[in-house]
Amino acid sequence: MDQLTINEASSFIQNKLSIKPSIGLILGSGLGILADEIEDSVAISYKDIPHFPESTVAGHKGQIVAGTLEGKQVIAMQGRFHYYEGYSMKQVTFPIRVMKQLGIEGIIVTNAAGGINTSFSPGDLMLITDHINNMGNNPLIGKNNDELGARFPDMSQCYDRQYIKHAEDCSKELGLTIQKGVYVGNTGPVYETPAEIKMLRTFGGDAVGMSTVPEVTVAAHAGVRVLGISCISNMAAGILDQPLTHTEVIETTDKVKEDFLLFVKKIIHSLPQ
Ligand code: 6GU
Repeated sequence: MDQLTINEASSFIQNKLSIKPSIGLILGSGLGILADEIEDSVAISYKDIPHFPESTVAGHKGQIVAGTLEGKQVIAMQGRFHYYEGYSMKQVTFPIRVMKQLGIEGIIVTNAAGGINTSFSPGDLMLITDHINNMGNNPLIGKNNDELGARFPDMSQCYDRQYIKHAEDCSKELGLTIQKGVYVGNTGPVYETPAEIKMLRTFGGDAVGMSTVPEVTVAAHAGVRVLGISCISNMAAGILDQPLTHTEVIETTDKVKEDFLLFVKKIIHSLPQ
């Protein structure tokens, strides 16, 4: 990814903002409502930003919203780019490069995911402690730009331990029960077969989705601290005797949105520096 391309996108955005964001937010399926809480906000449609791809999925708005949230200067992506839409791994993760260039130190990455762990229930929120890249690709493949990060990045702490601890403390203060676990990133667009879910469970996965892994990989490369939160929107295939639908994903995220909003706002309020 070349610096000129990143600069063109970041300058375009910065010129429209009166703030300098320190925290990034990626809002997944059905979770975009958090952006509505941002004060003195400026919204910029992806299609207007140089070099940004355009978002296509229902339930995703396709814009950046920047402003103040809980006293912090934030930049949120209301909708993200998915690999299954046909975008390259570089395109999917381009916004991370741009947000890093804009000055973010940390990012909160959210998604809707299927529960693999049978002790989970739809509506649970899960702090991501680690991930499994099951996408058969990696956004860092190709010539490395040493200015952006290391050739062989360490992934052993890409989900920031201090952030996880902070989020756990916040959940306790709110009286929210929270799960912790390993997120498996699959390409989609199909949901998994029951046999695949059984395999992923033995591999150590607790939740499965079609995003997050590329973005977190690039954040690790760029030295951006990550907090990952999955909303368990449904149980994965083969656990309950019912088919999986995108409608269920949206309905469940809609049900937990109040808790989700309170939780993320509390986390942002005193996110460790
Ligand atoms: Cl069960 N699988 C995947 N890959 N993504 C999901 C999901 C399941 N539920 C919500 N998103």
